[in-house]
Amino acid sequence: MKEDFLKFQAQTSPHPLAMEVSKAKGSYIYDEKGQPYLDFVAGVSACTLGHCHPKVVKAIQEQAEKYMHVMVYGEYAQSPAVNYTKFLASLLPPNLQSTYLVNSGTEAIEGAIKLARRATGRSELIAAKNAYHGNTMGSLSLLGKEERKGPFRPLLPDVSFINYNDDEDLARITSKTAGVVLETIQGGGGFILPTANYLKKVRERCHETEALLILDEIQPGFGRTGTLFAFEQYEIVPDILVIGKGMASGMPVGAFVASIELMSHLQQGPKLGHITTFGGNPVIAAASLATLRELQETNIMLEVSEKEQLFRELLQHENILEIRGKGLMLAPILKTAEMANHVILTCAKKGLILFWLQFEPRALRISPPLTISKKEIEEGCGMILEVINMYEQ
Ligand SMILES: Cc1ncc(COP(=O)(O)O)c(C=O)c1O
Repeated sequence: MKEDFLKFQAQTSPHPLAMEVSKAKGSYIYDEKGQPYLDFVAGVSACTLGHCHPKVVKAIQEQAEKYMHVMVYGEYAQSPAVNYTKFLASLLPPNLQSTYLVNSGTEAIEGAIKLARRATGRSELIAAKNAYHGNTMGSLSLLGKEERKGPFRPLLPDVSFINYNDDEDLARITSKTAGVVLETIQGGGGFILPTANYLKKVRERCHETEALLILDEIQPGFGRTGTLFAFEQYEIVPDILVIGKGMASGMPVGAFVASIELMSHLQQGPKLGHITTFGGNPVIAAASLATLRELQETNIMLEVSEKEQLFRELLQHENILEIRGKGLMLAPILKTAEMANHVILTCAKKGLILFWLQFEPRALRISPPLTISKKEIEEGCGMILEVINMYEQ
């Protein structure tokens, strides 16, 4: 299978891990020989409830038997999407009551950009250096690393970049700005948290200039940092919230959420201001609903901070300079990029899945299923330390 994978499936890098997967359950992925791999990555923060959570599988199966795709987004009332958006609205502040469901994170960012431009009549977008918002042309225009986007220029005009966590740079947000797009916690940049009051200052500046604040919670959303969304911990509310990844616990999805009034701009001038065939797909919406119900009805989110603490206690080593991030979005920073690469590849051989962060080569990505057990955390951290120790010899 590996040969065919490399030959027929378009590749994203010269050296993919190319593990041959046979099944996945809970915190483990199994290869073609039935060998288990403890998963500290969760499909890059997507499998919120672990692999093949029974309630998510059941919701998918039941909905697939009733109906799957029946019509493009926005025409028919389909109970999975209606029930999901209603439930989500009940958990969000009063200005985030209308959810536009799409198929991926990057598509949700595209929708948010369009909404900000359409609603304000302005064209400028401001994003942060080292930001990652996805890979379609609009999202790529907001990517804060020139070497990754330069070869694809020309991109969107009127995009400028500020330093994340730099208060002085906020003066660059002006009455020409349609939207300020920020990750609540920078992911690819190295799991960088906003400093005290930074997001409040951004919020204030956006109010002053009437620019829309667009928060990308595609990665920290759905309980990963201990609350349903990370912005709740910074005492601010965005104008547009962008979500995806962990929302359907392993099914492809994205959404952008705004006030009913703001979102109405996509219905007229022009009508069909944003359309999609598969957005709001009933099977995906059923998986999203099952995921959100499980997060609300259990202690999974409450346990996130205890699990973070356990990771921090266990991962103490002279070669780990610091552990960035929050909740179950953690990045131990090793002394060198070579060491991090060695640990990731050696752990993979030994049965522990770790991954890289796009713009911080010294980091180990740790973003396990939120359902991971303490015993599994101990087991995986033990392996990381063992491999770091072996590297020294
Ligand atoms: C913060 C953030 N925004 C946007 C995206 C893009 O999401 P998708 O890969 O579903 O298009 C990602 C994916 O890694 C992300 O982490």
